[in-house]
Amino acid sequence: MATVLAIETSCDETAAAVVRDRTILSSVVASQIAVHQPYGGVVPEVASRQHLETVNGAIAQAMTTAHLTWADIDGIAATCAPGLVGALLVGLTAAKTLAMLHQKPFLGIHHLEGHIYASYLCDAELQPPFLCLLVSGGHTSLIYVKDCGHYETLGQTRDDAAGEAFDKVARLLELGYPGGPIIDQLAQQGNPRAFPLPEGQISLPGGGFHPYDSSFSGLKTAVLRLMQSLKQSADEMPVADVAASFQASVARSLTKRAIACARDYGLTTLVVGGGVAANSGLRQHLTQASAEQGLRVLFPPLTLCTDNAAMIAAAAAEHLQRGHCSPLTLGAQSRMPLSQVMQLYQANAADPAGTAVLHA
Ligand code: KG4
Ligand code: ZN
Repeated sequence: MATVLAIETSCDETAAAVVRDRTILSSVVASQIAVHQPYGGVVPEVASRQHLETVNGAIAQAMTTAHLTWADIDGIAATCAPGLVGALLVGLTAAKTLAMLHQKPFLGIHHLEGHIYASYLCDAELQPPFLCLLVSGGHTSLIYVKDCGHYETLGQTRDDAAGEAFDKVARLLELGYPGGPIIDQLAQQGNPRAFPLPEGQISLPGGGFHPYDSSFSGLKTAVLRLMQSLKQSADEMPVADVAASFQASVARSLTKRAIACARDYGLTTLVVGGGVAANSGLRQHLTQASAEQGLRVLFPPLTLCTDNAAMIAAAAAEHLQRGHCSPLTLGAQSRMPLSQVMQLYQANAADPAGTAVLHA
């Protein structure tokens, strides 16, 4: 058993959590949405400053709610990549400092591996291999999960991520930030068949389409053109119908590719992660299509879909069980392919706090 305290500060959520293996003992998420809302998106400088102000309180609250002392903690983790470097550094520095102070192993965690591990927190029996559809504000990927730390990206977006498309279309419709939840709500009052929109397919040079990659910037442009023509022809913009048609197009696009990928690779379980996994249209489409194909689909609860530290702690607990820990010299990286996760670790049971590396 491994009990881990983890900190997540990669974007606009300051989060801290304590997880024992696959059980959440506490999970604190302080959202910065209200702070960034006036700017219509995340302002990196503002995010870093906000993390600095909030992180200590979040850690203290996570420890108090878990009813644990430092002696009960086996490892301390933080998201180290990918994300906003200034924001990542806040959580990373806090975790390293606590690891040094309390002589605990330190682990840097890849944010996307965290999103994958959200599913382990809602199914204690889940085991690889499975396919993960990871749809967030920064990523849209189909990931073949082979084992802890071993991932192969089979499909991805060539431009905008799915969440980014939701945010951009919400901006076009002047709905506010973040766009995903607002479009999701509005779409429930609209007609998803009102306007036909493209499903973001990628043409291949020899003809046909890429089976797993997608493009969402063309879809956003199609929404813009639709709105321009509606402005000329309609008295009032049918905002709910546009939102519902856009959401249905994203849901169809992601569902088709995820199902094809799982089938082609012989994977029978599909898990979904990232903020867009909270989308009701995607949940409906994917649940229905998976049932038709005899695929098992797993959606984490909404609180585990968006950024949180429990998912980071769950990934760290499994790495720790396998004897992995990171050197205290580990830095923050704005980009890092998921295939490089194992580069974050050294098997270092003899020097769990990584002090040899620190003093090297
Ligand atoms: O995973 P996440 O919290 O942060 C990143 O790692 O990016 O995802 C945030 C993204 C935002 O783009 C937000 O608009 C989108 O997830 N999102 C949604 C919904 N809830 C959050 N998109 C569609 N429908 C939702 N219900
Ligand atoms: Zn995320």
